[in-house]
Amino acid sequence: MPTLEPDHDILVFDKVEATYGEAPILRGVSFGVHKGKITTLIGPNGAGKSTVLRAALGTVRVTHGQIVYRHQPITGVSTTDRQRKGMAYCPQGRSNFPRMTVRENLEMGAFLRSDREVQEDIETLLDEFPLLREKQKEFAANLSGGQQQILEMAMALILHPRILLIDEPSLGLSPIMVEQVFAYVKEINGQGVTVLMVEQNARRALAISDYGIVLDLGRVRLKDTGEALLNNEEVSRSYLGS
Ligand SMILES: Nc1ncnc2c1ncn2[C@@H]1O[C@H](COP(=O)(O)OP(=O)(O)O)[C@@H](O)[C@H]1O
Ligand SMILES: [Mg+2]
Repeated sequence: MPTLEPDHDILVFDKVEATYGEAPILRGVSFGVHKGKITTLIGPNGAGKSTVLRAALGTVRVTHGQIVYRHQPITGVSTTDRQRKGMAYCPQGRSNFPRMTVRENLEMGAFLRSDREVQEDIETLLDEFPLLREKQKEFAANLSGGQQQILEMAMALILHPRILLIDEPSLGLSPIMVEQVFAYVKEINGQGVTVLMVEQNARRALAISDYGIVLDLGRVRLKDTGEALLNNEEVSRSYLGS
């Protein structure tokens, strides 16, 4: 098992506990996200996977432990500042502006930017995601679920993130769109963006991941390479379905 060298890690969770109210949801979660790689969090419903991403982004209360991003503890750093420092987030489910056009949605994605290259960057993104160019004048609500997921990824990319936190991108999509979305995740990573992904479609997700982390009941059960987890019998039995 490769050790996750802190020097290589863009994001580190160190015994993180987090809660929405009283009940602890993350119960001492520790792991590192290797820079430039794809790491996928798997585990049953309610395990706390989405909460891990929210803790990284700073939208859930961390009560113990520490999160280190680019070698700096980020406790007390606002969500907006985390985004400015290169964290992009695609939440689970739809997060676009349905009554705005595809192009307007991409402009909304650039809300934190004040430079003048936004329109140029939108053109670049439309080249990269041709289906969005084709639909740029359509309301987002008129796109299929998979097309909306791709739009949301493009909205995140317009901030030129260092790390993309992406929650269940394949949820509810047709098999063809699942392949398309995973291919884009790979492509985005190929451009140098570190990816921390949450996926129910664990088998398919691990197959494109460098590393995987199994989360269960708010605790890390296992972390290893994606390949090793795919070949691990216990993981297969307990977390991958048959
Ligand atoms: N906004 C919230 N308020 C209160 N409890 C929540 C909230 N979001 C999630 N939870 C609870 O936290 C636990 C973990 O949820 P979540 O991180 O969404 O799990 P997963 O993404 O692994 O399915 C669940 O028990 C869920 O009910
Ligand atoms: Mg979730």
